[in-house]
Amino acid sequence: MKALQFSEYGPVSVLEVADVPEPHAGPGHIRVAVRATGITPADWYLRSGRLRDMMPVHLPHVLGVDAAGVVDEVGTGVSGVRPGDAVFGIVDLAKHGGANAEYAVLATWALKPDALSWEQAGGAAGNVETATRVLDRLKVGTGTTLLIEGAAGGVGTVAIQLAAARGATVIGTAGPHNHEFVAGLGATPTTYGPGLGERVTALAPDGVDVVLDCAGSGSLPDLVGLAGSPDRVVSIADPEAAKYGVHLSRSAGPGADPAAVHGLAEAAALAQQGRFTVPVAATFTIENATAAHELSETGHARGKIVLTL
Ligand SMILES: NC(=O)c1ccc[n+]([C@@H]2O[C@H](COP(=O)([O-])OP(=O)(O)OC[C@H]3O[C@@H](n4cnc5c(N)ncnc54)[C@H](OP(=O)(O)O)[C@@H]3O)[C@@H](O)[C@H]2O)c1
Repeated sequence: MKALQFSEYGPVSVLEVADVPEPHAGPGHIRVAVRATGITPADWYLRSGRLRDMMPVHLPHVLGVDAAGVVDEVGTGVSGVRPGDAVFGIVDLAKHGGANAEYAVLATWALKPDALSWEQAGGAAGNVETATRVLDRLKVGTGTTLLIEGAAGGVGTVAIQLAAARGATVIGTAGPHNHEFVAGLGATPTTYGPGLGERVTALAPDGVDVVLDCAGSGSLPDLVGLAGSPDRVVSIADPEAAKYGVHLSRSAGPGADPAAVHGLAEAAALAQQGRFTVPVAATFTIENATAAHELSETGHARGKIVLTL
């Protein structure tokens, strides 16, 4: 089968669409014929070698953590899903790869709602799991005021909607060109960078309850100040989080938090109710994956980058 892999760490030129053996669904897993699959910043962090100590991979490594497709193999012990079902889900996160391919083995999945296109569903699962994991940890619910730093990207756009669906009030930081976009998803937008404290305080005079940092841009001291305590802040992106007493939530590698797999079915149900969507920044064919990685590397994709097969 065709798969997007790299055989050595390096720039986008090390990416190759290779012919590799098909994987098969082991116990508790399913295999899908992939229709669409997500690109996440971790893919190019992995490819570049920047994560080689924290998350070493066996080379060649097939990239991709999430996908949507049609089930064609069901492993032993699996119930509730049959060959032919359309699903979206996540690979075994300990392996952190394998979804950017014609066939992928999923460890966690939900039925694909008709309300999401293949592209939207293909890029949904990883960010839904991440956002749910952090919103659970921060106990976001009715009446919570949540600040999301880096609200216009893949995780932020999903987190805004899932938090709003829980009854939270959401403030999201983004570049000015993304304010209307972020507002359309249910957050009050403001600009990140110097003066953030004053801007957020003007929007939430009683303060914010909790903060999700999706940016890892060095703003944790300001974010802790706004929340009033480091235990009210969770970062998914700042490797220096511990320095500020902030929890860095990860789905894989040492110290990983348990995956919040319940989020997938919840997001699917919200999508069917018209309360959840996946903004797709751009779609590329797998043969054009280098352009997808280059867009991710800009750090300014609006929503999710997706590969189609
Ligand atoms: N730990 C985990 O479990 C986990 C899971 C998924 C992702 N992550 C990490 O979380 C981060 C975000 O992932 P993602 O998929 O959402 O990335 P993404 O889609 O590439 O997000 C890019 C967004 O970041 C915004 N941005 C850029 N500079 C910013 C700044 N200084 N302050 C605030 N926002 C800024 C951009 O908005 P503007 O264009 O408006 O500037 C853009 O929309 C990445 O570092 C990723 O590796 C971690």
